[in-house]
Formats: sequence, C-alpha cells, structure tokens
Amino acid sequence: MKPITISELLKQDASLHEVEVKGWVRTFRANRFIALNDGSSLQNIQCVVDFENTDEDILKRITTGAAVHIKGELAESLGKGQSVEIKVSSIEILGDSDPETYPIQPKKHSFEFLRENAHLRTRTNTFSAVMRLRSSLSFAIHKYFNENGFFYVHTPIITGSDAEGAGEMFRVTNLDAKNPPLTEDGKVNYTEDFFGKETNLTVSGQLEAETYAMSLGKVYTFGPTFRAENSNTSRHLSEFWMIEPEVAFMDLAGNMDLAEDFMKSVIGYILEHNAEDLEFLDSRLQDEDKKKPQAERNDMTLLEKLRFVVDNNFKRVSYTEAIDILRNSKPNKKKKFKYIIDEWGADLQSEHERFLVEKHFKCPVILFDYPANIKAFYMRLNEDGKTVRAMDILFPGIGEIVGGAQREERLDVLKQKMAVLGLDEEELWWYLDLRKYGSAVHSGFGLGFERLVMFTTGMTNIRDVIPFPRTPQNAEF
Ligand code: 4AD
Ligand code: MG
Repeated sequence: MKPITISELLKQDASLHEVEVKGWVRTFRANRFIALNDGSSLQNIQCVVDFENTDEDILKRITTGAAVHIKGELAESLGKGQSVEIKVSSIEILGDSDPETYPIQPKKHSFEFLRENAHLRTRTNTFSAVMRLRSSLSFAIHKYFNENGFFYVHTPIITGSDAEGAGEMFRVTNLDAKNPPLTEDGKVNYTEDFFGKETNLTVSGQLEAETYAMSLGKVYTFGPTFRAENSNTSRHLSEFWMIEPEVAFMDLAGNMDLAEDFMKSVIGYILEHNAEDLEFLDSRLQDEDKKKPQAERNDMTLLEKLRFVVDNNFKRVSYTEAIDILRNSKPNKKKKFKYIIDEWGADLQSEHERFLVEKHFKCPVILFDYPANIKAFYMRLNEDGKTVRAMDILFPGIGEIVGGAQREERLDVLKQKMAVLGLDEEELWWYLDLRKYGSAVHSGFGLGFERLVMFTTGMTNIRDVIPFPRTPQNAEF
C-alpha cells in the first residue's frame, strides 16, 4: 500500500478500509487524538490511538512537530468538522520533536517571530496557505501565457546592463577579495568583475525579453530579480520575482488590455482552485479586523476584494488627469498630503497612489502617459514631446503592482534619449540593433509577483509571502 496525502484521503468514503499516511503531529490530546498534517492542504486528519495497546515509550514520543507514519482503518468520524478519521493500528515515529525546544507551539505566534523561524513557519496554517497560493498563482501565470500563445524565455540573471538605468544593482564578481586588480589611482577595478567584464544581478529581464519579442512575437519571462535599493518597507525586497510579458506589434492600449485580462485570469484561477486556503485567510483577516476600531476596518472581505477585481473594469487615467485630481483633493482630516504635488512633472508618492485607488476611484487604476523625465529611458516618447507611453497599475492596499510601457522603437529618438541620460551606446549595441533591423511597435510590463501574492492573500508584509525574504536587514537561511 502506498501512503497517500491527507487531502486525497479526506475525499475518500469511510468504508473501513486500510490506509497509510505520513505527516507531522500538530497536537496530541488526551493520549488518544493526533491531529496530523502533511502540508497537502489545511486539513488535519484525526488519528485515534488505541493507547491501552500502544507502547508507553511511543506515546511519549508523539509530540507536536514529530514526523510519524501511521497505518490504520479509515472510519466515519463523530468529531465536529471532520467526516473521517483513522483508527490507528500501527504508529512509527520517523523523527522526534522535543516539545521543550520546538519553536512552533500549538498557539498563535506573531509574524515577526515566525519570520525568524522561516524554516519552520510553513508548518502553520497561515503560512502553508500562503505558500500553496503562491504555488498556484505561479502555475496560473504559466497557464495563462501558454494558452494565449506566449513563449517562456529564460532571461539571464547575471547581466552587464542596468535595464532600469536606476543604478540599483548588486555587483557580481569573481575578483580575489584579498588581491583585487587596481586602477591607476589605487582603487579596486570593478570593471574586471566577471572574467574581465563589469556585471550585476539583473534588475529586470525586460531588455532581453524585448529581443525575443522581436523574433518570437509574444514572450514572457518569470524569474528572480534583484534591487540594491535600501528601502526598508513592507513592499520592497532585495530579491523578488517578476513576470514580464513582451509583445511585438502591440501598443500601449493593447498592453493595458493584456495586463488587465491577465490579472483577472490568474486571480480568477485561484478563486476557482484554492477556495479552502482563501476562505481560511479571509476568516483570519476578518478576526483581525474585529479587533480594530471601526474606521480602520476593511470595507470588503478578502474574497469580495478578489471577486471585485475579476468583475470590474480597471479605471484608466492619464498622469495629467491624476495630478489634477490630487491637487483638488483633501486626503484626510489634516486635508493635506505629506508631500504636496504642486507642479506637473513631479513623481507620485505612495500616499498619492493609495489615495487615488483607495479613496478616489475605489478600484484598480491604470495610470498612463507619465512625464518622460521620471520614467526609464526605453519608454516611447509621445507626440507632445514631454510624456511617455508608460503605465503603472495601482491596486488597493498595495499601490504599484505593475510597471510597463510601450517601448521606443525609433532609433534616432532612442539614441537621443540615451545621450541625454549619459547611457553608453556601445554597451547597449544589441538593444539598438533591434531598432536598426526590422524595428516595430512593441510593449510589455512587469508584475511584481510578491505584490500579487500579498494582494491575493491579504498579507500586509512582503516578507511573509516569499519563502526566504532578502531585505537589507535579512539574508539568513
Ligand atoms: O516598475 P519596475 O521597476 O519595472 C520594471 O522593472 C520594468 N522593466 C518592467 C517591464 O516593463 N518589463 O518593476 C515592476 C514591478 C513593480 O510594479 C513592482 O510590483 C515590482 O516590480 N517591484 C518590486 N517588488 C518587490 N520589491 C521591490 N524592491 C520591487 N521593485 C519593483
Ligand atoms: Mg515602477
């Protein structure tokens, strides 16, 4: 007989047949009832031990966290909230767990505490639900692109180019730290980093994805990206995963349509396939909400929020319209933003984004046509000569979740822009080649995967939606 997962087992009828499971003990009550979980779902299976006929030594070793192998008969359960249970005929302790030192006790732990125990935190209901959802979302993403004619491209992690031109890169080096090559004025010569080249960890796969869009048509990349910005916020990581589709012959309007359809599709997927985990996280959030003063409570439950996104159009607003709204708005009792936008051309701060999404429009917002000077070099300049075909998607509770653009396809305009920003044409010769040989309108965007997981699970700290968070403060594990 092969051991099966608990989620499979719970679908079976209790017809008194022999079953076998392996998992970790959550609790052991009255020397009799084991709540066993194997990670396959939120559900524990109750295993009833015949304690009179079980060795005293074995009973002592059935402790929270221990790994066990159980054989027995599947029977109808009289217990509340479960249809079946296992009447244990044999139990083998696979791995002991010292109840004195095991960090994950059967009680509520704070997320801070669990972050310090990231190697064990998926043994809790909340984190196992979040990580199963993360897995499901990433499957839904590949499924969406696969069903819509996109090819998956593996863009490099080690790269010589700074795709965003923001200088927020981690160097990759194989220099001998004790004996580094020096420049004439005695400083470490980093241009020798990678077997004689200067290289970094990628901040985005976009530029390389563009090369594939200009040959395969519709492509996407989905991989880890790295940012050396020292932002210690609940929405920034040093290492995060990004989904970046790139499509030839598609303009900014098409890009917005794609992003909206894509986000609705992947959120729709988990609503359909991960109801149990979502309902659990939803009720957790509702319990949290009850502890807050009325004014701070969410006006929608998690499931309502997700359905709302799937069922309603995203509001499309130009940067210029958004600035007008912000100038004429009173955001709070103090009637002021911390950072006051008094001029066209200023970058929006997260308080402005949150205001637009949460207070003004009360739905996801796509902001487009930003001032050229606050956006990256590769964005398509509009005919007005001062805005670019950029788009950011803002989500309630999250702020910016997607950043994208129609790309500058005109060689002369792109070269001009690079010259103004001091970008080296020689370094990006291959990128310029795309504009020399068969150039065409093309567009794409980047979705921050962890921000999507935050939105769909209701978690409020980005460190709690990635298995092992890397931040300026944390690179343990
Ligand atoms: O807006 P960003 O910087 O855009 C790009 O990198 C483009 N090259 C994407 C493209 O057009 N192909 O990043 C895109 C998204 C942001 O909207 C945000 O969701 C996420 O990536 N992001 C981060 N997520 C977590 N931690 C950080 N430090 C992030 N920086 C960006
Ligand atoms: Mg951005």
